[in-house]
Amino acid sequence: MTRTLDASTDLHTTAKRYLAGGVSSDARRTAGVPLFVDRAAGSRLWDVDGTAYVDYVLGQGPALLGHCPPAVVEAVSAQVARGIVYSAQHAAEVRVAERLCTMIPSAERVRFNTVGSEAVHAALRLARGHTCRPKILKFEGHYHGWLDPVLHSVHPALDLAGPADAPVPVPGTAGQPPAADLVIAPWNDLDALTVLMARHAGEIAAVICEPVLCNTGAIEPLPGYLQGVRELCDRHGSLLIFDEIITGFRLGPGGAQEYLGIAPDLSVFGKAMAGGMQVSALAGRASVMDDISTGKIAHAGTFNSQPVGIAAAEATLRILDEQREEVYGTLYARGRALMAGLREAAAKAGVPMLVHGPGPVFQTYFTREREPSVRNYRDFAATDRARMTLLHAALLDRGVNMVPRGLWFLSTAHTEADIEFTVAAFSDALASLPLG
Ligand SMILES: Cc1ncc(COP(=O)(O)O)c(C=O)c1O
Repeated sequence: MTRTLDASTDLHTTAKRYLAGGVSSDARRTAGVPLFVDRAAGSRLWDVDGTAYVDYVLGQGPALLGHCPPAVVEAVSAQVARGIVYSAQHAAEVRVAERLCTMIPSAERVRFNTVGSEAVHAALRLARGHTCRPKILKFEGHYHGWLDPVLHSVHPALDLAGPADAPVPVPGTAGQPPAADLVIAPWNDLDALTVLMARHAGEIAAVICEPVLCNTGAIEPLPGYLQGVRELCDRHGSLLIFDEIITGFRLGPGGAQEYLGIAPDLSVFGKAMAGGMQVSALAGRASVMDDISTGKIAHAGTFNSQPVGIAAAEATLRILDEQREEVYGTLYARGRALMAGLREAAAKAGVPMLVHGPGPVFQTYFTREREPSVRNYRDFAATDRARMTLLHAALLDRGVNMVPRGLWFLSTAHTEADIEFTVAAFSDALASLPLG
C-alpha cells in the first residue's frame, strides 16, 4: 500500500514558506513530507489526506489513555468555560499536588511548570542552590529537554565523544555555551561512575538520569546499577534526580522510582500526567524543596498550574490512581503482546532484531546482538539506525506510526485488533526493505 500525500505535500510546501524548516519542532523533521494530522481519537490518527494510522507515538508519550479520553475532554471543556488562565492559586492544583504526593513514592512537595524542559531546569537550579555546588553529572544518551545546560551528549558523533568510560561533553547544537559544569558518564557502568564521582568529589550538585533510558533505546538499568548510583550520590553528598518525563505514570502510578524501587531526591514529571495537556511538575523531598518554599531558590512561570492543564491532570491522575489495576494491566499486556508479535515476525522473516523495554514503552533495533547487549548509547549507536528509518517509512505506508528511531509507546486505547494489525503491517514492512 502506498499512501496518497497530495494534501500533505501541498501543506508542506506552504509550511516551508512560513515555518522555519516547515515544522515547529526538530523532532518532526523528516526526509520527506512530515505527518500532517487532521484529527486523533483513541489509538488512531488521521492525516489530512484521510489515511488512518495506529499511533504508537502518542504525542511523544503523553496520550497514555489514548487520544481524547472522554473524562479528560469533559474536564477540559468544563474548565475552559470557567477560565483559561488565572495566574493565581486555585483549588484543583492543591488537589492534584496532594494526589501526586500520594502516588509518587519520593514526593513530599511539588511545584508545577508547563513542559518537561522547564521542570528539569528547575530541578538543576534547586540542586545547585541546595548543595552550593556547581556541577551536574549526566549520562551519555540521556535527553533532558532542549535547553542549553543539558543538551549535550544526547546522540553525539562518536569521533567527538571521547573515551567510552569518560565521555567528553558534546554540544547538541550550534549556539550553546560551553559545558563547563557538566560531567558526562556512560550509562550502566558503575566502575566508570565511581571514578568520575571521585574525580569531581565535592563539586557535583546532582546526578540526573532517565531511570529507564527511553530516549536511547528503552534501556533498563542493569541489576543493582541504580542502587549503586544511589549509594554513590549518598557517599558524595550529591542529589539524585530522576527525569521521569517519559517513565512517570507510564511504567506505573508511581513511575520508574516505584517500578525499580529506588527513591531519588528530586524527580520531574510531564507528558502522561495530563492526558495530552501541557503540565509538568518538579517533585521531591521536603528538606530539598524547602529551598523553594523559603524563596531561596527562584521558581516562577505565568502558566504554572494553568487551570485547563490542571483540570486535565486531575481527570487523568484520578483514572491512573483509582483504576490502576485495569490501566496498567492493559498497558503491560498490550505492550508485551506487541513485543512478542514483532519478535516473532522478525524471526520468521530471518531479520536479526532485538525488541526490548518494559512494555508500555519499548524499542526495536536492527542488530545481531542478543539481550542484554544494548546497555548504553555506544551499543545503541552500533545498531543499524539507517535501516530503522527505512522501516519507519515502510510502516507509515502501511498505516502504523512509531517514533522514527524505533521507539513504541502504548496506550490503554490500543486493542488486541490493533496489535494484530500492527504485527501484520510490520511483517509486510520488513519484507519490503531492501536486502541488508
Ligand atoms: C526524558 C525527557 N526529559 C525531558 C524532556 C523535555 O520535555 P519537553 O519536550 O516537554 O520540554 C523530554 C522530552 O521528550 C524527555 O523525553
